[in-house]
Amino acid sequence: MRGSRLVCSGCGWEPPAGAAYPFRCARSGSDDRDHVLVHRLGADAVLDRGDDDNPFVRYRECLYAWHAARARGMSDAAFVDLVTRINERIAAVDGHGFRVTPFGRIEALSDYLGLNVWVKDETGNVAGSHKARHLMGILLYLAVTERGDGPPLAIASCGNAALAAAVLARAASRALQVFVPPSAEPAVLERLHALGATVVSCPRVPGERGDPCVHRFHEALRAGALAFCCQGNENGLAIDGGETLVYEMLGTGAPPLDDLVVQVGGGALASTCMQAYARAVAAGLTASVPRVHTVQTRGASPLQRAWTLVQERRASTGASAEDALRYAAAHRSSFMWPWEQVPHSIAEGILDDETYDWVVVLQGMTATKGTTVVANEETLKEANRLARETTGIAVSHTGSAGLAGLLQLHRDGVIATGARVGVLFTGVQR
Ligand SMILES: Cc1ncc(COP(=O)(O)O)c(C=O)c1O
Ligand SMILES: [Zn+2]
Repeated sequence: MRGSRLVCSGCGWEPPAGAAYPFRCARSGSDDRDHVLVHRLGADAVLDRGDDDNPFVRYRECLYAWHAARARGMSDAAFVDLVTRINERIAAVDGHGFRVTPFGRIEALSDYLGLNVWVKDETGNVAGSHKARHLMGILLYLAVTERGDGPPLAIASCGNAALAAAVLARAASRALQVFVPPSAEPAVLERLHALGATVVSCPRVPGERGDPCVHRFHEALRAGALAFCCQGNENGLAIDGGETLVYEMLGTGAPPLDDLVVQVGGGALASTCMQAYARAVAAGLTASVPRVHTVQTRGASPLQRAWTLVQERRASTGASAEDALRYAAAHRSSFMWPWEQVPHSIAEGILDDETYDWVVVLQGMTATKGTTVVANEETLKEANRLARETTGIAVSHTGSAGLAGLLQLHRDGVIATGARVGVLFTGVQR
């Protein structure tokens, strides 16, 4: 695979050659280190293969699936053919398949805020959010490597990721178990059932720390299911599919952003943005990277808590940012643990108890000079109203939470008037 390899960012472990499902570090959970498998791309990879409306064709060389296919003797043309066929099946299930989503400057929003605001609109993507991008990277890997029926797939999610998983699993005729909280929207549950998923409601268990859906999901994995989810720590292959979002923005030739504000739940979305920009610079797709800032809600902000703890460690030890982060990654439980209160917010999609992909996100914020911000409920509502009024896009409160972060960062003076800023409208209001 000429330079393309999977490696644990925490301990350096690499899956043995021929491993069927190299999704997770084998040492994960054995110590207090943060273990996440990441895809290191060879320097010779051509990130952008040129005009194609299907991002998984255009940016195929960023995918581990493509490298796995080539290593198994599959031709590039055969891989493109496979992507196209799977995309057609997705279209048959969901009305349309993957295609490059809109990205542009929003005049009315820019004028109103005194900023130069660019919006990437994911509300019309497969299953109504960006989540299916993460899963397509995994699905293509399975399509390339499996022979015959594979094990069932599993995911823990309360909404968008579950819907995306159900659409893709249906398109691939795969069994899927979805672990949801009892508060999941009835309309979402109905759609999951209609798509043939097995839905398991997971109430909180007295005395059990962390998200019960994640606990039940882990039980399913132990019973042989495959992690078909949007969290890099559970399946490292979820990350590079998500990166197509950033490559699409760069592929428009729009002027470079000064700042990008990304809403964070489990952290995979922000992680993909950080890694995509790093890859894009290495591949010469862009010369400059925006400051990448992250937004959480008052309901739960474990990423900001970790960020503050890392800053405190720097201040008390005099360590560099990189050393403090390295220390944090090796002492996970002192920096990242489940939020103590049951979280509530109107932006319910970003209420994860933990930011699972936190280390890469903190590293990316450090490298790009970004920061974290917590948006209150008023600001989340204001941002959603503004988003809808100025764009006409039926974006959800989770989907417009990046704009809420932008409002707050602008008020705080972190983002200057006139700056060219990107936000991601990640999900549709159902
Ligand atoms: C619409 C939407 N935007 C953003 C996010 C946050 O993504 P992540 O959990 O990868 O941080 C989610 C997560 O569920 C979401 O549904
Ligand atoms: Zn590891």
